[in-house]
Amino acid sequence: MEASNKKRSAAKAAMEFIEPGMTVGVGTGSTVNFLIEMLPEIRNKINRVVSSSEVSTALLEAHGFNVSTLNEVGDYDIYIDGADESNNRLQLIKGGGGALTREKVLAFAARRFICIIDDTKLVGMLGSFPLPVEVLPMAQAMVALAMSKSTDMRGQPIWREGFITDNGNHILDVHDLQISDPLEMEARINGIPGVVTVGIFAERAADILLIGGDNGVKEIRNIGICAPRGWVNS
Ligand code: 5RP
Repeated sequence: MEASNKKRSAAKAAMEFIEPGMTVGVGTGSTVNFLIEMLPEIRNKINRVVSSSEVSTALLEAHGFNVSTLNEVGDYDIYIDGADESNNRLQLIKGGGGALTREKVLAFAARRFICIIDDTKLVGMLGSFPLPVEVLPMAQAMVALAMSKSTDMRGQPIWREGFITDNGNHILDVHDLQISDPLEMEARINGIPGVVTVGIFAERAADILLIGGDNGVKEIRNIGICAPRGWVNS
């Protein structure tokens, strides 16, 4: 089965987690685009939508949704987004589409985070996919140097030339990483001055992973190593 069909089936499976009256956070990328196409089918169930990027906002609006800001909704029910890689602890690499910072904010604010991927993205160890890092433009070269000089990181940062994030920043894609401890690596990279966000989602991993494959959609639930975190414990 083609990857696009696997992505579509994962997106369809995610629709079943949306309950009447919910506010839905919408991620960014080709997998989420399938979700956005299907959301009008359950428009009556949805209270409000919030979006992780200008691209997803435009698509949602084209499908007839009014997009609320996170400041209007506060903590909310459910965030659905794709990923570039997931391990079996539901820790992720995200940011292939460059929307990682807003995605991380929306994931953090949601009571439940559902990640939708095709089966090629489930990996034993994160890091084969070049790790996106959003950086302040003025700090780009310094952050790249800090990452390439770090003896234990040994990554090769490449500037995503010509790409500006929705927040006006740059992206470094860090190649050749083997991320054996995603929590530690996330904290360490986030600690470099000039880094806005690293695309490791380990502190706030997914709660449910829906994996589209040849034989349908497999569901993996996070059983607690990475507890869901929102603004409110509920
Ligand atoms: C965008 C992302 C996407 O979720 C990730 O790149 C997966 O994209 P796709 O669904 O197109 O494979 O993190 O910033």
